[in-house]
Amino acid sequence: MISDIMATQINAQINREFYSAYLYLALSTEAEGMNLRGTGAWFLAKHHEEMMHAMKMVRYLLDQGAEVTLAGVTAPPPKAQTVLAMFERTLEHERSVTAAINDLVDHALSEKDHATSIFLHWFITEQIEEEATVNDILGRLRLFGDSGQGLLMLDNELAATAQTMGQASSAAA
Ligand SMILES: [Fe+2]
Ligand SMILES: [Fe+2]
Repeated sequence: MISDIMATQINAQINREFYSAYLYLALSTEAEGMNLRGTGAWFLAKHHEEMMHAMKMVRYLLDQGAEVTLAGVTAPPPKAQTVLAMFERTLEHERSVTAAINDLVDHALSEKDHATSIFLHWFITEQIEEEATVNDILGRLRLFGDSGQGLLMLDNELAATAQTMGQASSAAA
């Protein structure tokens, strides 16, 4: 059993994960609209990952006998317009999620709630990887530009990565 405050905070994080899923779905459709199939597939794979994150937390609350409270999900912001802006938005968002998860761990530790703290470790590691991946993509976009040949190369690469991500998340489910 976890405390009501801890459950409320995890419920808030569930909402953030659903918002992340919604944001990446929006970016996926935007990329598809620009005929960037690989980028669209990559953001769609991110969408599925975020849904999986939300569901992991839902499962945790249920296993702990805590109540799951689903709140409204905020609409994503207007179109990013460029691929560079899409990934800048992604990095900024992931950084805010990392900060939120760190706060959750801080709270769990303050309550000596070791179960929740251990549960959240997976998310801490996941955030490191997510930020690193997006940083890497951004670095290449800045180096080769987000138009023409450079963008085509990146789009092909993201198509391949999206496939691996899809396989990894269906293996984890
Ligand atoms: Fe997430
Ligand atoms: Fe994420």
